[in-house]
Amino acid sequence: MVTYKVPVIAGDGIGPEVIAEGKKVLDAVAEVDGFDIEWIEYPYGADNYLSTGELISEDALKELKNYRSIYLGALGDPRVEPGILELGILLRLRFYLDEYINLRPIKLYEGVPTPIKNKKPSDIQFVVVRENTEDFYIGLGGNAKRGRSKHELDLVRDIYHIRFGLDIDSDADEISYQLGVISREGARRVIEYAFQYAKSHERSKVTGVDKANVLTHMYSLWRRVFDEVAKGYPDIRTEFAFVDATAMWFIKNPEWYEVVVTPNLFGDILTDLGAMIQGGLGVAPGGNINPKGTSMFEPIHGSAPKYKGMNKANPVATILAGCLLLENLGLERSAVKVEKATEEILREGKVKTYDLGGKSKTSEVGDAIAKRVKELTI
Ligand code: NAD
Ligand code: IPM
Ligand code: MN
Repeated sequence: MVTYKVPVIAGDGIGPEVIAEGKKVLDAVAEVDGFDIEWIEYPYGADNYLSTGELISEDALKELKNYRSIYLGALGDPRVEPGILELGILLRLRFYLDEYINLRPIKLYEGVPTPIKNKKPSDIQFVVVRENTEDFYIGLGGNAKRGRSKHELDLVRDIYHIRFGLDIDSDADEISYQLGVISREGARRVIEYAFQYAKSHERSKVTGVDKANVLTHMYSLWRRVFDEVAKGYPDIRTEFAFVDATAMWFIKNPEWYEVVVTPNLFGDILTDLGAMIQGGLGVAPGGNINPKGTSMFEPIHGSAPKYKGMNKANPVATILAGCLLLENLGLERSAVKVEKATEEILREGKVKTYDLGGKSKTSEVGDAIAKRVKELTI
């Protein structure tokens, strides 16, 4: 029997609870489809940080690079200053593994309520391809008091190494600044992925999102690269849209969208909005993808600390992230089976968590989907 080794970082808050259900469902499909998953647990998150002072070690990062797919819950804990765990573990992993694509499908399943009046599942069926290593996420910036100061900032990525030397001469009492970077290659590779995705999934349009009317430097390069890449796909229609208007159109006309490609920060914001129109954060999965390296699959929601340990959070987003993980392992048939089982349980509506108007526990939803996976005859 083939064994797939999959590292797991359950993380913080509701992370361990939703990951337990994701593993349950993937183990169920492995059983019926005749393979085995060996879960390799990593302890990274708030508890580990508070007891050892370690975020994630260089050795662990190197080790994780040997695997194809990682399963991740969520990071972030009220006992730790905001950003420490998120940047120190989650973003560190995304950057170290050069997961330059963040694929976030926005799909309304039958039986799941959308807050948008008169929209049905066939109206909400698109994907957001979010750039995942650049833009305002590079973490470079600083603080300067009145007078002169010198800052040296380093940006290290697989595809480049950039050093910024800044001479600051300021008569403001205090400033802080944050740099954003878009590189030609960084933009090209994610936009290319979006067009390839459209082509291979029979989608006929790609929408490029930015704010090129204000952040003219970064996003005019983004637009130029988009146009260059688009030339290679004459059968795919294209359009540009500003991010503010896109937020409005996601609500007004979600059926307009097929594939949306966006810089990192706008993609972060738009996909929480996208999650809401597909029924909420409890059902929205995502994949951090490096097509030639190690990818990492997670729900797009965070650690929702107020629900920690209550067996209340919706595990569906994590289970659907498990589908993306299976696809990434080349197990398409099993992925389809897990999605079908999830779809049926959502449609029937008997077992659902509070966010979808139900009373079921996290583990009951996992049990129901795992059971259905085993009953399906496809
Ligand atoms: P959040 O996504 O954790 O939760 C916001 C709200 O969404 C919750 O209070 C809850 O009402 C709802 N929700 C989220 N997941 C749900 C689920 N599975 N089932 C039902 N309802 C769900 O966002 P937040 O409260 O802004 O952030 C909490 C922590 O998580 C912070 O530390 C933040 O930095 C971190 N965070 C981590 C990730 C990640 O690990 N990928 C993503 C976002 C936020
Ligand atoms: C997400 C999260 C992360 C992000 C944070 C926790 C670093 O919000 O996965 O959407 O901004 O990418
Ligand atoms: Mn987010």
